Amino acid sequence: MDTNVRPESMQRITTKELADAFIEEQVKAVREQVGDKKVLLALSGGVDSSVVAALLIKAIGRQLVCVHVNHGLMRKNESEQVVEVFGKEMDCELIYVDATDRFLDKLAGVSDPERKRKIIGGEFIEVFADEARKLSSEGVEFLGQGTIYPDILESKSGVKSHHNDGGLPEDLKFELVEPVKLLFKDEVRVVGEALGLPHAMVYRQPFPGPGLGVRCLGAITRDRLHALREADAILREEFDKNGLAEKVWQYFIAVPDVTSVGVRDNKRYEGWPAIIRAVNTVDAMTATIEEIPYEILHHITDRITHEVEGINRVLLDLTPKPIGTIEWE
Ligand code: XMP
Repeated sequence: MDTNVRPESMQRITTKELADAFIEEQVKAVREQVGDKKVLLALSGGVDSSVVAALLIKAIGRQLVCVHVNHGLMRKNESEQVVEVFGKEMDCELIYVDATDRFLDKLAGVSDPERKRKIIGGEFIEVFADEARKLSSEGVEFLGQGTIYPDILESKSGVKSHHNDGGLPEDLKFELVEPVKLLFKDEVRVVGEALGLPHAMVYRQPFPGPGLGVRCLGAITRDRLHALREADAILREEFDKNGLAEKVWQYFIAVPDVTSVGVRDNKRYEGWPAIIRAVNTVDAMTATIEEIPYEILHHITDRITHEVEGINRVLLDLTPKPIGTIEWE
């Protein structure tokens, strides 16, 4: 039997009861697979890796070693939340690697979007491989992965390659542990909630792997990246407060490397524009623009231009996909 094929008889996990039964089954399977050995997991803080971490903690506790690489391109408080939830509340063995300087130094002066992506992806593998190599020499034999069913379907259809080895170099050989590989995203979320993960983590909006690096257009500088992160945090806070977080599929700020003249405290104030993007979509292939009440937009503009150093304008992107993509990069 191909273990990468979802049996037709498998019920959709839509309730806590079904999720609990799934969790119990997987806990048993993971224990059988790994015995008393240790499992390594790259924990980004995204939905899939977080749910796998929580499931593996339930199954094997301190035999799980999570590695969280902060590439310096995370949203505000994201790495802190990973440390708080997994390192403290769930008492997991968590190796936190702050690789911010390493990533930002490599990215300095690089403006081409594809090159930026390549650098971020390549550095990530290197940093993670360094940690994996250390753990492998200490006898860790298993690698946990947050593979979900769409990843398997996409790799079968050739749409997207699916790294079934974490993209690690040849010399690093691990046996995979992929407890949610037959689940669709909505099911992963139900399982995550049943495992007690915070709602905000389980229903997190999609976030590109290269993080804020794609939304900080052109060559990334630390000050512009900081401004982007702060403005994005304000946008998210206001969407949460005003009930828009549940209505809008994805919303974020992009900051281009363009400045214009403004006025602050009666003085010339040069700054970047913060661009608001808020879209609805079903499958991310096409997207429509969600109408945001002007009152809320005014308030967000007021907050961003007053609270964020370096931003002197706020713009709203009204472009559907197509013709725009969802991200700005
Ligand atoms: P675009 O910009 O192509 O984005 O319209 C479609 C969706 O994909 C997300 N996206 C990514 N997700 N890794 C991801 O996991 C990535 O590198 C990546 N790049 C874009 C984007 O946020 C949007 O939801």
